[in-house]
Amino acid sequence: MTLRLHTIIASTRPGRVGPAVGAWFQGVAEAHPAFDARLVDLADFALPVFDEPNHPRSGKYVHDHTKAWSESVAAADAFVFVAPEYNFHPTPALVNALTYLAQEWAYKPAGFVSYGGASGAVRSVDNTKGLLTVLRMVPLLEQVMVPLVGQKVKDGVFQAEEIHETSARAMLDELAKLGGALKPLHAG
Ligand SMILES: Cc1cc2nc3c(=O)[nH]c(=O)nc-3n(C[C@H](O)[C@H](O)[C@H](O)COP(=O)(O)O)c2cc1C
Repeated sequence: MTLRLHTIIASTRPGRVGPAVGAWFQGVAEAHPAFDARLVDLADFALPVFDEPNHPRSGKYVHDHTKAWSESVAAADAFVFVAPEYNFHPTPALVNALTYLAQEWAYKPAGFVSYGGASGAVRSVDNTKGLLTVLRMVPLLEQVMVPLVGQKVKDGVFQAEEIHETSARAMLDELAKLGGALKPLHAG
């Protein structure tokens, strides 16, 4: 069974390093036999601060930006968030994008490639996991952590180390296992 993996770049600010880290991880994901791997840039969806009148559980969306985002998320069987830490928390863009939808996220596993300063963004990942479980996602233990990301992006290219490659493959193996097991529970 081939699983559709969406790697979502979760920072949207001008000058961000998210695309460099995301491009590296996408290469690793494409080499994994379990996945049809796609790179998704949250910035492309230009989601405003949540502006739907109905609860996302209803699936009744009035805005085209929500419908486009819903279609993208619904197509995936598993997610990896390429996510920096802002003030020990996830980016507002990621919280907003998660908030827009409900069923589209449910019963799908999610891993993180987290990056930031000294900590490798572990605090923000822990703070995001609670939100994921409310959306009925299954956050993984396995994770890629990138401390001091500013020193590892040169000319727009992320300089991955062996530990990043090894932990990325371990996370992908776990995503494949859970993604296959959970797929029968997906909506529609
Ligand atoms: C608003 C803001 C808050 C930040 N807070 C943290 C933080 O709590 N921990 C950390 O390690 N880095 C923090 N940083 C540094 C970011 O990890 C670093 O700027 C990183 O490049 C952000 O990812 P991006 O370039 O994809 O936006 C913060 C950066 C910004 C812009």
